Amino acid sequence: MCGIVGFAGKRNAKDILLQGLQRLEYRGYDSAGIAIQNGEQTTVIKASGRLQSLMEKAKHEIQGTLGIGHTRWATHGKPTEENAHPHQSADGSVTLVHNGIIENERELRAFLMQNGFSFSSETDTEAAANLLAYHYQKTGSPLKALTEALHMIHGSYALVILFKGCPDVIFTAKKESPLIIGMGAEETFIASDVPAILPYTRRIYDMESGEIAEVGRGSVHFYDKNGDHIEKTPTEITWNIDSAEKDGFDHFMMKEIHEQPKAVRNTLYAYLKNGNIDFSKANLTESTLKSIQKLHIIGCGSAYHVGMTAGYVIEDIARIPVRVEYASEFRYRHPVFGEHELAVMISQSGETADSLSALREAKAHGVPTLAIVNVVGSSIAREADHVLYTHAGPEIAVATTKAYSAQLAVCYLLAVALGHAKGAFCDAKYQVFLDEIQKLPEKIEQILEKKDSLRVLSAHLASLETLFLIGRGVDFSTALEGALKIKEISYIHAEAYAAGELKHGTISLIEKETPVLGVLTQKNLFPKTLSNMREVKSRGAYLIGIATEGFDVENTVDEVFYIPETLRPFAPSLSVIPLQLLGYYIGTMRGLDVDKPRNLAKSVTVE
Ligand code: F6R
Repeated sequence: MCGIVGFAGKRNAKDILLQGLQRLEYRGYDSAGIAIQNGEQTTVIKASGRLQSLMEKAKHEIQGTLGIGHTRWATHGKPTEENAHPHQSADGSVTLVHNGIIENERELRAFLMQNGFSFSSETDTEAAANLLAYHYQKTGSPLKALTEALHMIHGSYALVILFKGCPDVIFTAKKESPLIIGMGAEETFIASDVPAILPYTRRIYDMESGEIAEVGRGSVHFYDKNGDHIEKTPTEITWNIDSAEKDGFDHFMMKEIHEQPKAVRNTLYAYLKNGNIDFSKANLTESTLKSIQKLHIIGCGSAYHVGMTAGYVIEDIARIPVRVEYASEFRYRHPVFGEHELAVMISQSGETADSLSALREAKAHGVPTLAIVNVVGSSIAREADHVLYTHAGPEIAVATTKAYSAQLAVCYLLAVALGHAKGAFCDAKYQVFLDEIQKLPEKIEQILEKKDSLRVLSAHLASLETLFLIGRGVDFSTALEGALKIKEISYIHAEAYAAGELKHGTISLIEKETPVLGVLTQKNLFPKTLSNMREVKSRGAYLIGIATEGFDVENTVDEVFYIPETLRPFAPSLSVIPLQLLGYYIGTMRGLDVDKPRNLAKSVTVE
């Protein structure tokens, strides 16, 4: 995720900014930059790739005791030097760094171009720089320019800004994206994350959405979104550097599990415009979608499970045939393709060797390709014909959680867009689908609030050596993902089955107290799965249900965890959360390193 630092004091700003950026490196980034103010002169230095390249470019002495810095994780535009922050307005009066997403970037660009502003990058951030400059030209006041501009910006942001003519202050503004201000003696620090400034100060102000700050050397004044002065009280940070990197969580995996509402929200923001799905960023028009007769969805591991869910949902609501396959199988299967087909690769890293080869295989057959990828500029993203990025931010824990949720969100939008283009349902239903998809982040938050109830259950399972998970339809693909999560981080043998398959062999493994977990979210299917659960209960199994609220399961199962109601196709976004948490709790209770499970790598670049 992008990182921000800022400094106003009496020491050399360059060193403090670069050290701050180094402390944010763990979050992942693909380019970096700094801007240093010295009187009326602003020096901007940027580099793509590692921070080391930026340090090389900034090796010479740079005078100035006030400045801003940024590490960028590409979302809009490739990880190039042009797209790296800080960005400057076309007239040079505003220099800024930005975390977040400006949703109405295209409208703002059009407005600013009509008003004589030019653009040199592909980023949404440059629209903010030019918009601030437009209002700064009109008002002559940074604060007024900010209040005017912020009323026009839709989306999320942490903005840290230098204005020409104001060499002794930095302005900041926040909506949703984190931003803190740390107070030292005659110096002030700004950061997106605590670790960047922890060596200098523990006295911090946490900015709230809608707030603006004017930061001087050892001073700060806060304003609301209308520019009226407000009072704030600083707090003392008690975390050490290790827990600060994890936002106070014990592990990156837990931090990332909690980032899922944001990952889904940001991903949806990227593709919903004025209440409609807009895939124009991927150059996927309604007529292209309409022409598609069949999809091949391909991925590895968890990405394959997302694909499997997508397959069920697309066939269910868009009525288009879908074949879902492991990338490692697809590439050697000598696949058969027809006219008007689309191959969809799902990959967090965009570098998985099997998925990349599968993409090349599809392209070699002349089949158009669509990549659903988290890492901008990765090999799969570069080679695919169309790309729909997930906006999960960098995932550090080896086991995927937030990228999985973001991939599901894109797949739901794809299913709804395909169904709409094909006329598989009416406009009213289209709106019902979109309304419900947008409620998912809040429902994930509700599940996370109840997470403690899964600890007790985990304590019971942590002492066992085996677990079965069952489900039907999308509940089966979620069961597969749950089993993978539990296996990979807790080393318990967890096996998922289509609920109807147990009686075809596996049931002979059931004995007294064997735990069997049923995923029960589909109104039309859950009575069937429940009856499969009764079959194993009568052979001694211990039954756990992950069920939608209101489903009558309590008389059958021994333990139940309820998830909020949602429309049938979208339930996997909710049912996977307790399974991720079970995996996490069981793994930590068994004393394992859940962030780095044995034998696994985050990106599998070998066949
Ligand atoms: C499991 C997990 C893996 C990945 C798989 C594909 O938690 O993370 O199964 O899903 O290795 O990786 P990407 O999505 O990078 O292609």
